[in-house]
Amino acid sequence: MQIANRLGKIPPYLFMELRNKINNAKAEGIDVISLAVGDPVDPTPQPVIDELSRTAADPENHRYPTDEEKGMLAFREAVADWYAARYNVHVDPEDEVLGLIGSKEGCHHFILAVVNPGETVLMTDPGYPAYRASILMAEGEPYNVPITAENNFLPELENIPSDVAKRASGMFLNYPNNPTGATATPEFFADVVAFANSYDIAICHDNPYSEVVFDGLKPLSFLSTPGAKDVGVELNSLSKPFNMTGWRIGMALGNTDLIGGMAQVKENTDSGIFNAIQYAGIVALTQCQSNIGEMLEVYSRRRQRILDTFGRLNWGDYTPPKGTFYLWMPTPNGMSSIDFATRIFEEAAVVITAGSAYGDYGEGYFRVALTVPDDRLDEALDRIKKAL
Ligand SMILES: Cc1ncc(COP(=O)(O)O)c(C=O)c1O
Repeated sequence: MQIANRLGKIPPYLFMELRNKINNAKAEGIDVISLAVGDPVDPTPQPVIDELSRTAADPENHRYPTDEEKGMLAFREAVADWYAARYNVHVDPEDEVLGLIGSKEGCHHFILAVVNPGETVLMTDPGYPAYRASILMAEGEPYNVPITAENNFLPELENIPSDVAKRASGMFLNYPNNPTGATATPEFFADVVAFANSYDIAICHDNPYSEVVFDGLKPLSFLSTPGAKDVGVELNSLSKPFNMTGWRIGMALGNTDLIGGMAQVKENTDSGIFNAIQYAGIVALTQCQSNIGEMLEVYSRRRQRILDTFGRLNWGDYTPPKGTFYLWMPTPNGMSSIDFATRIFEEAAVVITAGSAYGDYGEGYFRVALTVPDDRLDEALDRIKKAL
């Protein structure tokens, strides 16, 4: 069977050897604990579940979703109200908001709406691997912009060669950042708007971790930057703030033309989000704000336990990142990412992610997720302490 060349361009998973070791250990009955996957184990708030049960029983909702490609207006209005309340960002729910099946879907639709074959799209290294896959599937050319600890994991826009910037039609940014946990500042976003204007680049700010910030930091939207709506869209999601990764519901907000282009892609790809899930999403956005505070307390506690354990690694002047439910940490003694991940697995049966999985500039780091139950995390950390 012929499989299209574009799929062959997507990089294979780098660490098959470690993955095989993990699978073999599980098959042998070894109790493997994974700190590698960022997927909340804590439940979705009960009012959201109740609303889904109620609305799923209504046959009216068993049909194709209302306003198929854009999402129902009531959901888009709830999104607009949430953005006004949380980020002081004002958007028109009619044509500046789009319902999505998660922000991941939005990344892909953004690229399909914006990028012609052969055009360059900027993304960070390290960065979320789905960006590269979407760019390659649309036959665009990914260009890696390095982000390093020296620059607080923010790209140095002035160091992007101007011939590259001139060829670029789009750019992915993501703060709070997966995998580094770094957060952006209003000043950085203002530079992004100026950069996008000078080179006519459409910005896709992927912000699903907007609410997962620590140490008293205030959640920030790219769209609160003056001029941001002229140059880009922001993606967000109910996955992380309301423990709803499996529900598949998110949103894009911002530039009308980009929202319109993405809606056109959606119209020809899927038929929207199940109405009952949109109703449940409205309840999350309007009634479940307290879930976020509770979630942050749980993550803060786990974050501190992890920092206490890995703090034995002689980090020097390491500063923990302030965002996302990941910790991005340097490996000890310059060990390679994969060697350290392999050692932790072999000596503690705990899985952590090698930083180099996220790009060349991820080398020398590893990522640990806070989304494991407390008792499993304690067990994993006890084993790691013994191993180190
Ligand atoms: C940077 C980033 N963007 C998007 C997603 C996907 O989120 P969603 O569940 O909203 O599709 C993830 C999930 O881990 C992510 O880390």
